[in-house]
Amino acid sequence: MSFSNSTLSVNGRQIELPQKDGTIGPSVLDIGKLYAQTGLFTYDPGFTSTAACESKITYIDGDEGILLYRGYPIEQLAEHGDFLETCYLLLYGELPTAAQKADFDYRVTRHTMVHDQMNRFFQGFRRDAHPMAIMVACVGALSAFYHDSTDITDEKQRMVASMRMIAKMPTLAAMAYKYSIGQPFVYPKNDLDYTSNFLRMCFAVPCEEYHANPVLARALDRIFILHADHEQNASTSTVRLAGSSGANPFACIAAGIACLWGPAHGGANEAALKMLEEIGRPERIPEYIAKAKDKNDPFRLMGFGHRVYKNYDPRARIMAKTTHEVLAELGIKDDPLLDVAVELEQIALKDEYFVEKKLYPNIDFYSGITLKAMGFPTSMFTVLFALARTVGWIGQWAEMIEDPSQKIGRPRQLYVGPPKREYVSISQRG
Ligand code: CMC
Repeated sequence: MSFSNSTLSVNGRQIELPQKDGTIGPSVLDIGKLYAQTGLFTYDPGFTSTAACESKITYIDGDEGILLYRGYPIEQLAEHGDFLETCYLLLYGELPTAAQKADFDYRVTRHTMVHDQMNRFFQGFRRDAHPMAIMVACVGALSAFYHDSTDITDEKQRMVASMRMIAKMPTLAAMAYKYSIGQPFVYPKNDLDYTSNFLRMCFAVPCEEYHANPVLARALDRIFILHADHEQNASTSTVRLAGSSGANPFACIAAGIACLWGPAHGGANEAALKMLEEIGRPERIPEYIAKAKDKNDPFRLMGFGHRVYKNYDPRARIMAKTTHEVLAELGIKDDPLLDVAVELEQIALKDEYFVEKKLYPNIDFYSGITLKAMGFPTSMFTVLFALARTVGWIGQWAEMIEDPSQKIGRPRQLYVGPPKREYVSISQRG
């Protein structure tokens, strides 16, 4: 990282602001002393021009459509690696050697079971509870079950909490699903790989043998890789902010899951699939394109647009290929949803409104179709996103805890409410 100074003119005064340059990507102006020097805050709702931290984990070039985990292009990781290798890379900064990978897989695998009392915890939920509601509650509740890994000042405890969450998230996600359909929970089977084990916990029943389809397991594993981290997005920033107060890691990740649930973020894959179902047939696409362009209509094309990508989302390309592989494996030749999706994509990519605003399909546009074909109900889509993103949240949280310059996050505001006024007793109001 290199440093230089930039000069800013504020109310006729020249202020020197240190400029910090990263390895790649835009440099930043360090405004940490701006208030002390000028009495002014900066104003940036949605943080569109604000870097909240230094990070070595993920890099996105939204204009070029590039996504790197620890410097490695997402396309290469998705093509050649598996999800646990990506987890190792995100957490430790380097690709593992064969021995490190075997050790990591073993450590994750030894933590897949959840405390047996968690089973009873589930009984308190309505059967029709949204599985994201269950995930927020259950992951937060892990801090009530694993007291021995909540001391964030202890490196070993931080590591154990990380392993626990990566390992238990599939178990909890599968339990949430099984509970919603009234089937018994299926315990993890540790001789299976991470994703086959998850498929088994979701789709096996105790009365029959279950063998995960390797094409589907590989596809889902790739989906997990694509979702594993994405820089300082809303849920990751939520995890960092929650963690900045010293909250325990389980509570921080539960906060991230809550944030992810929103339709503008992780809930978009569920919303995109619902939208495709609502459109129903290609002839109706123009009607929906018109709605999306109408300023007086709140409707947006779900699965299109991104805060950072102003080009094709690189994850969407891999996702589209994965979708076709899954549908071919399952022998689904004529999926009306896919027909609508393919045509919608073509129309939107040529439409002046979408071209001008640089609204390209994002990962969620295709992931819903793939997950549906695999047998997951729409309500589980965001849960799968949360499962995959857990490692990213943990990696970012750990990076923050280890950063000596870390402080509690405390944004300021532009106050536009009433100025100071005197209290009026109730009998004199009106
Ligand atoms: N359909 C129609 N118009 C859109 C869309 C869309 N999907 N997305 C943005 N716009 C328009 C928006 O109306 C605005 O127009 P104008 O400048 O005339 O007011 C302009 O494009 C810029 O939109 P914005 O809301 O200021 O952009 P943003 O960067 O704040 O929003 C977004 C990014 C992802 C929230 C938004 O594009 C969106 O709501 N997309 C649909 C939801 C979606 O697919 N989300 C998944 C994101 S990828 C998964 C993840 O990382 O979580």
